[in-house]
Amino acid sequence: MAIDPDHQKIRDILKAHHEYWKNSIPLIASENLTSPSVREAAITDLSHRYAEGWIGERVYPGNQYFDDIEDLCIKLLKDLFDAPFIDTRPISGVVANLTIYTAFAQAHDKMLAISIPVGGHISFGPNKAKTGAFIGGTAGAVSRLDVDYLPFDRYGLNIDVDESIKAIRKIKPKILQFGASVFLFPHPVKELAPVAHEVGTHVNYDAAHVAGLIAGSQFQDPIREGTDTMTLSTHKTFPGPQKGIVVAAHDNFAEKIKTAAFPGMTSNHHLMHVAGLAIAAAEFKKFGKEYSKQVIKNAKALGQALYERGIHVVCPEKDFTESHTILVDITNFQNSIGLGAEVEQLLEKAHIVANRNLLPWDILEKRNYRNPGGIRIGSQEITRLGMKESDMVIIAEFFHKLLIKRINPDKIAQEVTDFRSDFQKLHYAFDSLHQAYDFIEII
Ligand SMILES: Cc1ncc(COP(=O)(O)O)c(C=O)c1O
Repeated sequence: MAIDPDHQKIRDILKAHHEYWKNSIPLIASENLTSPSVREAAITDLSHRYAEGWIGERVYPGNQYFDDIEDLCIKLLKDLFDAPFIDTRPISGVVANLTIYTAFAQAHDKMLAISIPVGGHISFGPNKAKTGAFIGGTAGAVSRLDVDYLPFDRYGLNIDVDESIKAIRKIKPKILQFGASVFLFPHPVKELAPVAHEVGTHVNYDAAHVAGLIAGSQFQDPIREGTDTMTLSTHKTFPGPQKGIVVAAHDNFAEKIKTAAFPGMTSNHHLMHVAGLAIAAAEFKKFGKEYSKQVIKNAKALGQALYERGIHVVCPEKDFTESHTILVDITNFQNSIGLGAEVEQLLEKAHIVANRNLLPWDILEKRNYRNPGGIRIGSQEITRLGMKESDMVIIAEFFHKLLIKRINPDKIAQEVTDFRSDFQKLHYAFDSLHQAYDFIEII
């Protein structure tokens, strides 16, 4: 039977997409690969269903088995994060943040968070950017929060504790938001959460980027350090399906969070990904510590290897990073290659995928988010592919050949493809269970 031409076209494009990624070095700090077992969950019948409401109290029928899955998923996650309450219904990290804003604030309440130019996420942003260098964000545009910025040490790449204490006491925000999209060093939760609590502020920690490092006990432990709630994406350093969750440090936050998640922020909550998340959590219980340790070792090793080759990785005096992320100042290539957009494109041509990013001082130098002075690099996905410190030296060599020696990107792409051929298997993951899924019938 002839395949429909549009259908064929889509399949061809998907194939090309797979070929590109299979032969590339994936360095985007916000992405990861799911294991075959997690992917299998995505094609179960759960992808057709709804389960509005809480476990055991659904307002949709047919969920007697899904209730067991979500219950198990929550148990596994509570164990990993050592927390008394978790809501698995937010469908992404942004929706998890919106759930917190809905539960603990009202329109026009104040929130303090770091600004986007210094590494904040768009979900912390005000309705309208307060400088021309970047766009506004979800907290203001959707939740109508009045966002003020936490004072930030642009060159030390962290929140300024003394100035933030003053700001919290003066502004008395309804919400204090920790966390970042360029998250190199642990945030001062221990220092600032007690001050926020003194003035009646709800403290949330956005662990979207560092959730896997926290669950693997390799970063700070925000709940023990005093945060009230924690939001996260389940698919960055935590290698699960694309989803979000809210974690609470106390059961007494549970009712507000549950109501905000449903009916506030979700109807369908992507049930197949709850099953995938349960599998990812079981994998993480087994392999998470070893994995997250290697992620950080690789990030530091890549920082060092790039730095030694004349590539300006920021914060050399602090060993570049304590997380999966390093930030590279590429402004010295402005005349030879260009800024973030051009460097990103050149890397992409050479099959190296890393994204342009604002440097914290870019707005002082009149650079904006479209063509910033930095490139952000993450080690979490290449670690899943089994790469170790010695492989970071090879990757740094590719950067050196491309950016400094100016070797043709097509030639580097071939070298990258050869290098990648040794890394086609996923590590720190359960094996595929194809045979076990014989109950899945595609009709
Ligand atoms: C700090 C932070 N919070 C939230 C998000 C949003 O997560 P999602 O894409 O899952 O909505 C991101 C995404 O990169 C992020 O960096």
